[in-house]
Amino acid sequence: MRSHYCGQLNESLLGQQVELCGWVHRRRDHGGVIFIDLRDREGLVQVVFDPTVRDDGSAGNAGATFQPVMAETFSSAERVRGEYVLQVKGTVRRRPAGTENANMPTGQVEIVAQALEILNRAEPPPFSVGDDVEVSEEVRLRYRYIDLRRPQMLQRLRMRAKVASNLRRFLDEQGFMDVETPILTKSTPEGARDYLVPSRTHPGEFFALPQSPQLFKQLLMMGGLDRYYQIVRCFRDEDLRADRQPEFTQLDIETSFMSEDQIMTLMENMLCKLFSEVLEVALPKAFPRMSYAEAMSRFGVDKPDLRIPLELVDLGDLMKNVDFKVFSGAANDPKGRVAALRIPNGGTLSRKEIDDYTQFVAIYGAKGLAYVKVNDRAAGREGLQSPILKFMPDEVIAAILERTGAQNNDLIFFGADKTNIVNEALGALRIKVGHDRGLVEHGWRPLWVVYFPMFEWDEKEKRWSALHHPFTAPTVNDIEKLEADPGAALSRAYDMVLNGTEAGGGSIRIHRPEMQSAVFRILGIGEEEARDKFGFLLEALTYGCPPHGGIAFGLDRLIMLMSGAQSIRDVMAFPKTQTAACPLTSAPSPVADKHLRELGIRLRTVAVPN
Ligand code: AMO
Ligand code: AMP
Repeated sequence: MRSHYCGQLNESLLGQQVELCGWVHRRRDHGGVIFIDLRDREGLVQVVFDPTVRDDGSAGNAGATFQPVMAETFSSAERVRGEYVLQVKGTVRRRPAGTENANMPTGQVEIVAQALEILNRAEPPPFSVGDDVEVSEEVRLRYRYIDLRRPQMLQRLRMRAKVASNLRRFLDEQGFMDVETPILTKSTPEGARDYLVPSRTHPGEFFALPQSPQLFKQLLMMGGLDRYYQIVRCFRDEDLRADRQPEFTQLDIETSFMSEDQIMTLMENMLCKLFSEVLEVALPKAFPRMSYAEAMSRFGVDKPDLRIPLELVDLGDLMKNVDFKVFSGAANDPKGRVAALRIPNGGTLSRKEIDDYTQFVAIYGAKGLAYVKVNDRAAGREGLQSPILKFMPDEVIAAILERTGAQNNDLIFFGADKTNIVNEALGALRIKVGHDRGLVEHGWRPLWVVYFPMFEWDEKEKRWSALHHPFTAPTVNDIEKLEADPGAALSRAYDMVLNGTEAGGGSIRIHRPEMQSAVFRILGIGEEEARDKFGFLLEALTYGCPPHGGIAFGLDRLIMLMSGAQSIRDVMAFPKTQTAACPLTSAPSPVADKHLRELGIRLRTVAVPN
């Protein structure tokens, strides 16, 4: 039906007959001549329906004869409307002088139509197919097939395909085997709720959709596959955000007999090649590595955006004896923190802006946001402006200025509270101020965050939980030591962080059954429960399990970052909304009674979560 894509026509084809298929992007009637911008995946071209056209003899068209379009074809062209699907036969001609369009890749040429077939009509679309349209996301998702016609969406999906193919090629060349793992399976804990699927053949029993292929990829190592990868769908029923979807795609990787250093280096090579080939960007050859403890202390988060040149500074030791209880209390609390964030030239911040930031940190539980404006550092106390300095002796003030590196016209914010509140509040403030004040550097700042704690204390449940997942190996091999002080244990986990987003995470795994059982014990998973949930893993560990480790990248997140999209929804063809629904198909939806009966399920009324 087609000889060329619309968007690929150019001057090298002058005088040639072409057949095009596509959608009507725009139709204009110019005094008896009809112009149609015809659009396909590759772009637009202008098609002219001219009942009077003759050979124009212009340069470049030598030999081409342009026939007047037949009355029948012309009247078809008069009938077409936006988004109609057409097949056009015509001849490529140079646009008459003065009518070229430099903004269009095909803007030097046009197609003089000889024949037109309307392949299908279209209702007026709910929004126009351009990149500059303002449409709600709900409407875009409801009519996703129209949304996908927009050049930006096509561009992102094209990049997605290119990224996937590039990663596959790299891993294939490195000897990784692509293996599929089950979707109907048993719960694989990654910290979210499971999506459950009732079994008809085992009434009352359920499959879980995998939160990740974690246990299967470990079993593949036990099966001797040595190097595995898969581009795989994962399912997590969790609160959604711009970078979280209930189903998303991982590039999932596992290897045997490799250290974390070797795995990280291999992954750096993979990403360097990807960025160079898809974006023509040179990432650093080796990514910096930073411990979790350092990341929390300097940035308040475990996924620091290194493009923002602001850092948290600890002041706890200076504040132990000051008269301001809020500060001395936190400084003397082993679980507390007092920290400062210096904003270069922040002296220009207005009272209102400071109040807005105070409200902003309140979202994270901060009870206030003390500050010092540095008007004239050399003048000591007199050169400063602040609601809290009256509580502090001169030497503390001098030490704060020294430690934060304050300069004239800077502003220093302070946070004092439980460590996690200070970290979250000042960590988020750092990012917000960085963006608000245009401090975000251009480019790509990848890093590895390493040495995470093995466990964190869940205050609500009064038990330890795994920071990564329960299969991650601790840095110590000594089970007694681990059980004696779980809070002090570090794990052999590593996260790949790119411009403030966790792009991937992995670890060296536990490969000895005794250690795996010990970790389950620490997590409060009793022997019976461990056998019930993970018996197959514990058993497999006894039959010759190699030391192994791996990583999974959030493919959607990686592509979101690479394409500059604001949300992973924009790099997925058919994403779900914030409430985990699909406006296009209306999923999820009720099912017939008969179906439920077959499954042995009776519904009860439950409150809708908000
Ligand atoms: P983790 O849970 O860290 O590790 O997931 C790996 C990566 O997957 C991405 N990701 C998500 N992307 C979109 N929507 C979500 N809801 C979502 N959840 C996670 C993130 C994250 O870094 N099995 C381990 C990996 C391993 O240890 O090898 C795992 O799944 O980019
Ligand atoms: P107050 O004594 O409550 O008026 O607080 C004095 C200053 O300290 C104000 O600027 C508050 O915003 C700030 N402040 C109060 N609590 C905290 C806190 N936990 N961390 C940082 N600043 C605080």
